[in-house]
Amino acid sequence: MSSSQSQSGAISSKDDVQQMFDAIVPRYDLMNHIMTFGMDFRWRRIMARIASQTLTGPSDFVVDVACGTGDVAFAIERVGVPLVTGLDYSSGMIAEAQRKAKKRGSEVNFIEGDGMDMPFKDGVASAATISFGMRNLPDYAAGVREMARIVRPGGKVICLEATPYDHPILKYPFNFYFYRVLPVIGKLLTGKYEAYKYLPDSVRHFPRPNELAQTFRDAGLEDVQVVMLGFGSVALHVGTKPL
Ligand SMILES: C[S@@+](CC[C@H](N)C(=O)[O-])C[C@H]1O[C@@H](n2cnc3c(N)ncnc32)[C@H](O)[C@@H]1O
Repeated sequence: MSSSQSQSGAISSKDDVQQMFDAIVPRYDLMNHIMTFGMDFRWRRIMARIASQTLTGPSDFVVDVACGTGDVAFAIERVGVPLVTGLDYSSGMIAEAQRKAKKRGSEVNFIEGDGMDMPFKDGVASAATISFGMRNLPDYAAGVREMARIVRPGGKVICLEATPYDHPILKYPFNFYFYRVLPVIGKLLTGKYEAYKYLPDSVRHFPRPNELAQTFRDAGLEDVQVVMLGFGSVALHVGTKPL
């Protein structure tokens, strides 16, 4: 294992990941929409709707971990969650999320912080979401446990993440796109080839959906559901904290 490779398989150190995300902020949203062929809008809406299923009253609070430029947090606010906080450790991402919030009159609170050690008390949130962020954490199991910690009994932990693509035939064109074409599009649009090479490399090391589901159960979550999206390239995991 190289010095920049974490235990869980993500391939860069915390500082490297932080700098990489700071560097791609200006074209980050556009690149998301292009590389997913616009499917990311729907995926974020699905996440937001599931987060809203935990609502009980006006003090309901949802945390979007590794929020990036804020699109999941905005989607969660739009479905009627009263209090939403987005947390990310890239100051560039947080600044962009705050700029977007101001522009659209959103009341989402965006803060800089580490998803592995969040500044929230146990059980304060109705749900904790993470979208395309889990893969970047240095320890996936500890990341899931930290999300479960801040969620109240009956609340949900929801993770949307790219997953290794195993389809016996389609994996050939998909992997060609993902490993060869995507980094080039990333370079053309953002000037950062490495960031969009990191994406498929980190997906390759990421647990299969059934393994991540077990990680959810090991964190004490129950009724763990897995929904495959994006023709099997993306997995949505939902777990409920026992009452
Ligand atoms: C691929 S982006 C996803 C952003 C957003 N959730 C989305 O769906 O577009 C990954 C984000 O995870 C953040 N991140 C990575 N490790 C983190 C950590 N330990 N704590 C907080 N944020 C982290 C990065 O700064 C980056 O903004």
